[in-house]
Amino acid sequence: MSARERETVVADPAAAYDALWRARAAALADEFVGQESFLPRTELLGLARRAGVGPGTRVLDVCCGTGGPGLVLVTELGGDYLGVDASPVSVARARVATVERGCGTARFVVGTVPPLPPGPYDVVLLLETLLAFRDRATLLRSVAGALAPGGRFVVTAEVGRPLTGDERRRLPPGEAVWVTPLATLLTDLERAGLVPVSVQETTARHAEVVEALLRAYEELAARPAAAPGVLVARHLVTTHRRWSRWLHTGRVHTVAIVAEARPRRRPDTGNPTS
Ligand SMILES: C[S@@+](CC[C@H](N)C(=O)[O-])C[C@H]1O[C@@H](n2cnc3c(N)ncnc32)[C@H](O)[C@@H]1O
Repeated sequence: MSARERETVVADPAAAYDALWRARAAALADEFVGQESFLPRTELLGLARRAGVGPGTRVLDVCCGTGGPGLVLVTELGGDYLGVDASPVSVARARVATVERGCGTARFVVGTVPPLPPGPYDVVLLLETLLAFRDRATLLRSVAGALAPGGRFVVTAEVGRPLTGDERRRLPPGEAVWVTPLATLLTDLERAGLVPVSVQETTARHAEVVEALLRAYEELAARPAAAPGVLVARHLVTTHRRWSRWLHTGRVHTVAIVAEARPRRRPDTGNPTS
């Protein structure tokens, strides 16, 4: 986006947000929960159930965005939910949605992770955002430290060979895409004390979601530039075409992982009764 186009978007961000929301809702239909990602509702609920989310579960949703996935979990499964996101605008929207949908128990805070808000939690979610973290090891150690022993970490991730210098140069400024091989990610999890208990390949389904979103954004992008959301949609067409190509050619795969926090070893005091 040029600086002039950006100014047009900033002039009426709420109208642009609404137009993009409607495009996403139409594209995802029954699978729409307000997610800002490729994660369909069915997959979200399946993962949360596998992690044990239910009434009384202490859930932390790291990089929760505008709270769509979190509020569906609270409504459908229950749980004591806290979402954290670096974007004050997203957190404000999540709080408004909490009131509108009557999910009074869900809480949202602004924060850049790591560190994580102090736990312990029974479940930590990191949905569709691992690729933004260059330093995975520090993040995963924080997740492990915030989980109760036996607690579960749910992470959806983009895996594959790291981007080449050339691929990286073609990314829009500011877009972080730290793709990593699946084997490396599994090792990183183990090293942090998070033992993978299930790894699900989700590429085909996510590729369908990307296609549906791409069609919706192309439709919006074809409208006059002054219409709400059009300039952002034009930008999203470019990024979604790239994701479509990557997922369809196998350049990048998507996976959903549930990992369990290994009980932490207590320091050896030499006293067998302690
Ligand atoms: C792709 S969106 C995903 C949102 C949500 N998980 C979903 O699936 O709808 C990524 C979100 O991560 C947030 N984010 C990125 N890096 C972050 C960080 N280091 N700490 C907190 N939030 C971060 C962004 O502000 C954005 O809202």
